[in-house]
Formats: sequence, structure tokens, C-alpha cells
Amino acid sequence: MTAQPKAETFANPFLSGNYAPVTEEHTDAAVAISGEIPKDLNGHFLRIGPNPVFVPDEATYHIFDGDGMIHGVQFENGRATYRNRFVDTEGLRLERAKGTWIWKGMAAMGDFVKGVAPPAEGMMKNTANTAMVYHNNTLYALMEAAPPHKMTLPDLGTVGEETFGGKLTHAFTAHPKVDAVTGEMMTFGYAPFPPFVTYSVISPAGEIVHTTPITLPKGVMMHDFAITEHYSVFLDMPITFDFNRAMSGGLMLDWEPENGSRLGVVPRYGSDADVKWFDVDLSMVFHVSNAWEEGDEVVVQASRSLRTDISRATENAGKHQDMSDQLGQLYEWRLNMKTGQASERHLDTVHHCDFTRINDDLAGRKTRYTYAARFDVKHDAMFNGELKYDNETGAIQVHDLGPGRWGGEGVFAKRSGATAEDDGYVVLFVWDENTRQSECLIIDARNFEGPPVARIAIPHRVPFGFHAGWVPGG
Ligand SMILES: [Fe+2]
Repeated sequence: MTAQPKAETFANPFLSGNYAPVTEEHTDAAVAISGEIPKDLNGHFLRIGPNPVFVPDEATYHIFDGDGMIHGVQFENGRATYRNRFVDTEGLRLERAKGTWIWKGMAAMGDFVKGVAPPAEGMMKNTANTAMVYHNNTLYALMEAAPPHKMTLPDLGTVGEETFGGKLTHAFTAHPKVDAVTGEMMTFGYAPFPPFVTYSVISPAGEIVHTTPITLPKGVMMHDFAITEHYSVFLDMPITFDFNRAMSGGLMLDWEPENGSRLGVVPRYGSDADVKWFDVDLSMVFHVSNAWEEGDEVVVQASRSLRTDISRATENAGKHQDMSDQLGQLYEWRLNMKTGQASERHLDTVHHCDFTRINDDLAGRKTRYTYAARFDVKHDAMFNGELKYDNETGAIQVHDLGPGRWGGEGVFAKRSGATAEDDGYVVLFVWDENTRQSECLIIDARNFEGPPVARIAIPHRVPFGFHAGWVPGG
């Protein structure tokens, strides 16, 4: 018997409702059900997420485990085309050939500790399910424990794993940073073994030109990092890997507040010895919005929570409990490179948010505006709106999605001929549970609280997923 999921029939919340995977791939025109698709929005809105084909155990399935699927809407002069495609990974091909699952996903961490041998096909599956980056005219699908997958546009075909000519020696974060001014891409990988982090710079032409270890006291799950014009910033937050803890019945990856929180700043082409570490108040960061330099200070803004229980996400999901201590709020650290002092402050104490985004042209440079998805804290980790933050005035604007309408990461897509930082649109997928309709929503970034510019009906259900991206142009 295979363990192929049947949509919307499982008790596991990450396999049920609008998390349930879809099985078919489609290419269809999509039309506006309200408003009009702007003619000055041209490019690809892309959203990736886990969409498992085979599930070893429905009870222990973790949302990180599913096979990557990209849902895209291509905008061309007022027209929209929807496509969804699996990332055709080697792991998925092997499982399809076998007709059932091979890898256990996150649950395999327990096997590893017990000394159970990994599958003959390899330690783990590169699911390519987490995020995407566009660099050197190439779209990559990413998963932080493995190399990127090179993808094609507009058809979202899979070329295969990218090793950068064999020079990639480490895992590749789902959140590399592209400096739009220089064209360089900064990336890193983390591991449960020393040096725990390895950092690389990739040239505008796609060549790895710098690699260095970044040594930490202990292995941590480091999901994101930041860049400025001259530096890269690493987030040593206490969600640790611990073999001893796992051997004594605990979790291999767990929240360990005693390990503290630190930010490490290293020159873009610096090495391990150059890292300046700053102790900061205990916290967890999954996603940075941006960072930049101001005088002697490196400024970092991110969605920051007080703790995390991500390893137990499946047990905790679907209980409709208040998870506000685990959900992020927009926050700022100022790291003085001269004095070694750090200061920090909340940028928002009202809303909880994640999936922070900026105008990507300004990554690593000072930004006025941040966009983020707003959590409904009483409804697990569901998103009921989008936020726009103004660093100059402190104003926070809310685009509420309305009852029973759930969003996700909204990306900023600049308007053709844009003349200002926020001259464009925020684009996202919405699941309307009232009508059971997936939509692509286009919000005018300069009329953020106004009605959407367009609501586009997607002819097929788009399950909730992880990160979105915007690739400008045809
Ligand atoms: Fe992420």
C-alpha cells in the first residue's frame, strides 16, 4: 500500500483543510473577480510550500517535510496566468519510482540518535520546499539543509541541484541575500557539527568567490541572516542541536534559553576571526526584514519572538491556542561597531507578524517601509492581514483580509516605471474559507488600507505554504 494522502481527510492539521496537499499540476488563465489587474505589474509572483506526495506517518508528519511545490501567477500587461509545479527533486523521483515514501523527514532525527541507519538512497531528501531566490537571471528553489534547485521561467520546470561548479561545500540557507546594487549573493549553511555555520559570497555571474567558517559555541537552527552594504549579520539564537539531550529522551533540536541570543557582524569578505558578536536580550528570530549601516551602527530589523517550540509544531497546531509568545513582533537592534554596545527596541507592540518583506532593490540599504503578514494570535499561526510599517513616522497600516480569509507572505512588486520605494503592489495568495476559493490579491502599496486593486480567482486550490517571491519582467 502506498501512503498517498487524500486531500482534506487527515487529522494532522498540516495535512488538513487548506494545508492539504494537491496532486495535479495546472496551467490556466486567471481572471479578476473584483477590480482590474494593473497593466504596470509585470513579472512572476511565486509562492513555494510543502506539498507531500507520500507521507510515512500522518501523526508525525511535520510541516517542514513536504515536497516543494511552486504556485505562480505570471502578470503580463493586465493578464494573469496561474501555474503550479512540483519541484521535481531526485528524492521525489525516487519515491515515485518506488511508489511509496523513503525518507521520514523531521521524525528521522530520532532514528539518527538511536543509531538507525538512514535509507540507502541517502541521509535526507532535498525537498526544495521553503523559499526561492532569483540571482544571475536564475530562479532557485531552496531548502536550508541542501543545495538549491535551479528552476526555469515561465514554466517552473526543474533543471536540478546547483553546486556552483562543485564549489558549494555547505548547506544553503532558504534566505540568501542579493545585493541589488552590486549583484552579489550572500549565503550560508548551518549544521549540527562544528564549525556549525559556513558562509559564502557568490559573484553576480554565479561563481562562489568567498567561503569561510563562522564558528559558534553550539549548533543552532539558523534560518535567516542579514546583509548591509559592507557586512553580513548572523543570528545565534538558542534553538540548539544537542545529541546528549536527544540520547536522554529529549529533542535533538529544541529551545535552550541558557544558550542566549547573539548577533554576529562580519565584513562581507571577512573570516571567522573578524566576527564581532553582540549579546542581545533572549529571543528568537526566524525572519529578518532588512539591515543597513548608519554611522558606526549596524541596524537590524526582524520579526522577533520570545521563544519557539517549532519542533513540536505538529502537536501544538490546530488547538486554537494563544501562541503570542512564539509569534514575532517587528523589532530593531542597533549594533555599534566602535563601542561594541547593542541597543534594541520594539517597533510594534500591537500586532504579531512574520514573513517580513521590503522592496528587494534595497536589501542591505536603509529602507523606510517594511511589509509583513499579520498573525491572528488566537488562531494558531494563521495570517489575517498584511501590515505596512513606516520607519520614518512609526505609522503602521493594516490591510485586513476580512473574516475567514487567510493570507500568507505578501511580496512587494514594483510598478513598471516606479519612482519611489513604495511605488508598487503587495501581492499574495488568500484562501477564502467562506467560498472555498483561492485568490491572488493585489494591494496598492501606497493605498495600503484601501480596497485591493484586484482580487484574482485562482482556478485551483492553492494550499497554505511558506515563502513567496517576485521576479520582475516577462
Ligand atoms: Fe523562512
